[in-house]
Amino acid sequence: MFQIIILLLWLTATETVADHPAAKPGCQEKCGNIVIPYPFGIGPNCYISDSFEVTCNNSLDPPRPFIKSVNLEVLRISLENWTVQVNNPVITANCSGRANGREVNLTGTPFSYSAIYNRFTATGCNNLALITHQANIITGCMLICNINSSREASCYGINCCQTTIPHSLSFINASLGSLDPNSNQDSCKHAFMVDYHWFSDNNILAAGDMEYVPAVLDWRANIYLSSQCYCEKGYEGNPYLPGGCQDIDECSNSTLKHCEGICLNTPGG
Ligand SMILES: *[C@@H]1O[C@H](CO)[C@@H](O)[C@H](O)[C@H]1NC(C)=O
Ligand SMILES: *[C@@H]1O[C@H](CO)[C@@H](O)[C@H](O)[C@H]1NC(C)=O
Ligand SMILES: *[C@@H]1O[C@H](CO)[C@@H](O)[C@H](O)[C@H]1NC(C)=O
Ligand SMILES: *[C@@H]1O[C@H](CO)[C@@H](O)[C@H](O)[C@H]1NC(C)=O
Ligand SMILES: *[C@@H]1O[C@H](CO)[C@@H](O)[C@H](O)[C@H]1NC(C)=O
Ligand SMILES: *[C@@H]1O[C@H](CO)[C@@H](O)[C@H](O)[C@H]1NC(C)=O
Ligand SMILES: *[C@@H]1O[C@H](CO)[C@@H](O)[C@H](O)[C@H]1NC(C)=O
Repeated sequence: MFQIIILLLWLTATETVADHPAAKPGCQEKCGNIVIPYPFGIGPNCYISDSFEVTCNNSLDPPRPFIKSVNLEVLRISLENWTVQVNNPVITANCSGRANGREVNLTGTPFSYSAIYNRFTATGCNNLALITHQANIITGCMLICNINSSREASCYGINCCQTTIPHSLSFINASLGSLDPNSNQDSCKHAFMVDYHWFSDNNILAAGDMEYVPAVLDWRANIYLSSQCYCEKGYEGNPYLPGGCQDIDECSNSTLKHCEGICLNTPGG
């Protein structure tokens, strides 16, 4: 009887967060409006490894979470997709009143820029934007400008260009240069990694004026570096936590406690 009550209490408790994966028991569940599910966590013993430590800046209103290892603000974590949407800096050149933006280095963490969800984008005028790593060019795009072209949310090489990125890209530093040496050398140029779901709802040409735009990191590519757990499709819960998806035998099994290894519960498997 006692056990049944505990179970009912537990079910009620989990039901309230049924739409969201949960934090480790005893750990802060949210920072401001953002849910921070395990393996991420706030505070000692609340995250799976140092890379997943989140700090909550309470002096901001509302408080905002940051992934400490990469110093990027968390906008949304999806365990289902193994992704975290972050606020990623826009890199600029020759824009008045602005620093040139900072590079991001994810090396040594389980995170990389998702090749599925991101597009590398450049705006401005007469811009050749390249992602460089040391002396190597990794990807890039170029655009020509037409002041007569309407400033609408399109990106086909006039006033805006865009490209997909290679898998497992973990470093972003853009070099911005001019295509046509005879014009607009000193015009303001922007380049940024962006979540294409986000820009399809927003004016991409205005994005360059922002200091940060949403981009998506994933930790799936580095299967040996991070823990990978998921429950069967159609079930909710946090497979990273013991009993997190107890509806399914494979996940509820204590193998779950070995998330340091690989807990792979493939659909139907
Ligand atoms: C929190 O944000 C404020 C304002 O941006 C900043 O000055 C402060 O250093 C941040 N605190 C921490 C602990 O990062
Ligand atoms: C996971 O990815 C799918 C397909 O891209 C998308 O529709 C869904 O919104 C994503 N879920 C979250 C929580 O981001
Ligand atoms: C990125 O960080 C790694 C590890 O901290 C370092 O070894 C590497 O040199 C950095 N890369 C660049 C281009 O700064
Ligand atoms: C813009 O339109 C004006 C008038 O139609 C034309 O004279 C000018 O050459 C156009 N500029 C560009 C860059 O297309
Ligand atoms: C990033 O790119 C800028 C401009 O090309 C360059 O000056 C800087 O040294 C680069 N930083 C790294 C770490 O490669
Ligand atoms: C910035 O402007 C200077 C001239 O003012 C020019 O020499 C330089 O190439 C410009 N840089 C970029 C990246 O456009
Ligand atoms: C967990 O799985 C192991 C190996 O698949 C099995 O031997 C064990 O009985 C399972 N435990 C439970 C509680 O289902």
